[in-house]
Amino acid sequence: MELKVNGVTHAISSAPLTSLLEVLREELNILSPKVGCQQGACGTCTVLVDGEPRRSCLLPVVSVEAAEVTTVEGVGAPGDLSPVQAAFHQRYAAQCGYCTSGMIMAAHGLLKRSDGALQREQVIEALSGHVCRCTGYVKIVDAVMAASRGEVDVAELDEMLPAEPSEPEIEIKGSPA
Ligand code: FES
Ligand code: FES
Repeated sequence: MELKVNGVTHAISSAPLTSLLEVLREELNILSPKVGCQQGACGTCTVLVDGEPRRSCLLPVVSVEAAEVTTVEGVGAPGDLSPVQAAFHQRYAAQCGYCTSGMIMAAHGLLKRSDGALQREQVIEALSGHVCRCTGYVKIVDAVMAASRGEVDVAELDEMLPAEPSEPEIEIKGSPA
């Protein structure tokens, strides 16, 4: 079986009924889709399948064999962020970030389907079923609306962010690490 993700075709050895989420994370090491409820209820595993947001925990990989799968890794990168990614950063729409990949993919799909600036109700509807444990939803909705209105200076943000991301150094007193 073959699977096209972010424009690259991969040979897949997982069983056909393995979830797309498991294939992405465990076989292809594409880690932006997160493991949450695994029952379709939290949205943290959301990816785009032919441009439409889908819960990858619910999709057998064989069902998307002929499709184009897109994850956060395919919409932007440090130094080349998409407007939605830049807006999430500038508008403080993420804390722990666990829900962020799914939110960004749902928002990305919404922007692709829409012409111009979004209404708040449209954003809320598109993100319904996406659970955030940290931020509340106001900043997340604000960020998506800002991206839809072109209010995000992606170029300025790209200059601020390192092209090579690294883990922050955290020193815990008393820890041997
Ligand atoms: S892990 Fe897929 S919807 Fe929660
Ligand atoms: S930012 Fe932590 S779950 Fe949403």
